[in-house]
Amino acid sequence: MKKNNLASDLYIAKDFYTGNAGKQENLPVEVGELWTSRQRQMHPLHYTVSYRASFKPELPDFFIRTYLAKKNAGMILDPFGGRGTTVIQGNMLGFSGVHNDLSPISAFLASSRRKIPELDTLEQTLKGLKLNLSSKPVKKDAERLSPFFHKETLSEILNLRKILNDSDDPAVRYIGLTALSRLHGHSDGFFSVYSFPQISIMPVAQMRNNKKRGIRPEYKNIKERIIRKMKRDLSRPLPEEYHVSSEKNYYTGHDARDLQSVEDESIALIVTSPPFLDKVNYVLDNWMRAWFLDVEEELKKIRLSILSNPEDWTDFMKDVMVEMGRILEPGGRAVIEVGEVVYGGKVMNLEQLLMDQLPLKTKGGILRAEKVFINSQKFTKLANCWDVKNNVKGTNSNRCLVLRKH
Ligand SMILES: C[S@@+](CC[C@H](N)C(=O)[O-])C[C@H]1O[C@@H](n2cnc3c(N)ncnc32)[C@H](O)[C@@H]1O
Repeated sequence: MKKNNLASDLYIAKDFYTGNAGKQENLPVEVGELWTSRQRQMHPLHYTVSYRASFKPELPDFFIRTYLAKKNAGMILDPFGGRGTTVIQGNMLGFSGVHNDLSPISAFLASSRRKIPELDTLEQTLKGLKLNLSSKPVKKDAERLSPFFHKETLSEILNLRKILNDSDDPAVRYIGLTALSRLHGHSDGFFSVYSFPQISIMPVAQMRNNKKRGIRPEYKNIKERIIRKMKRDLSRPLPEEYHVSSEKNYYTGHDARDLQSVEDESIALIVTSPPFLDKVNYVLDNWMRAWFLDVEEELKKIRLSILSNPEDWTDFMKDVMVEMGRILEPGGRAVIEVGEVVYGGKVMNLEQLLMDQLPLKTKGGILRAEKVFINSQKFTKLANCWDVKNNVKGTNSNRCLVLRKH
């Protein structure tokens, strides 16, 4: 395994970003293992579904605990909400929040966990769903889905897809979320033949893989697999505050530069992680989920930000920060997690690009950098198969810039 030690060498010996913190000087820096590097230590509800470039729930947990001492003492927000980590962890700790993301897939991943029915209710609901009627995909879908699924498995998926997209029952939505998380992967718990779990690979790549491994899709009973997974994810009771808080959440689908429905000075804490230069293609990587949720047409109309150079990224983030300043309460904070990315063969610390824009005048005040936290992990989870080499191309430390509205 090739190690990338570029992470925090730059800062490890320093307590301050001296004279290098944009127009502000002497910015405190805290470096260390700020939260555990162990995997899957928080409530299993977080891990119901994987999502590219999601952060660990420990990250929002750390900042919510650090900056919002009292329960219900203000709303939290994630303008790039992804699978919903910030708001879900806020709800676990007794805070309500606004989950925003331009992608309708993200809206589903987060909002389908707003209300979690009892396991008995979920099991009864699932039992009652008629998934064994014989359904056939349209030609285009048959072509792209048949490398992944046996035709009877696909028929069950099609039936569930139809039920899900006609229903707003929380039990059906939660079942739908669990099914979405089981679509493809590399164990028997998934509906597909052996495939990559985190991203939907292209049908032709799947065909190649089937041929190389000498495998083809076998029948998988989807109800059995959904139940098994729901039992695992709901094995631990949710904290009492969860539903009291989640009931007051909002789910919005704005561009993060213009959070129209979020009122001025209404948010106490933002914890977020924007897209990092052009690391992830959220549309291509999620094509099968988009199909399952029937949002492919909707996705075509929106423009997720894929910014391939530092100048465009900085301009975009400047607008995002101005908008953050508008919606933050006086004294409120925004924590922006960025990674170090490799650009033009060099490591680029994105928080430095943000600091160069500060302080920023925004509606109702001024946004200033307050502190930088660098969580340097002792180990990084790698996905080294399928040509995804996270240790080389991706990020391996969490660098979090804290801004405060004055
Ligand atoms: C790094 S991911 C966030 C992951 C999230 N922290 C989590 O734990 O799941 C960035 C997200 O930004 C969303 N996105 C991209 N461009 C956007 C924009 N202009 N406005 C709002 N969301 C956007 C993507 O859909 C993606 O879900």
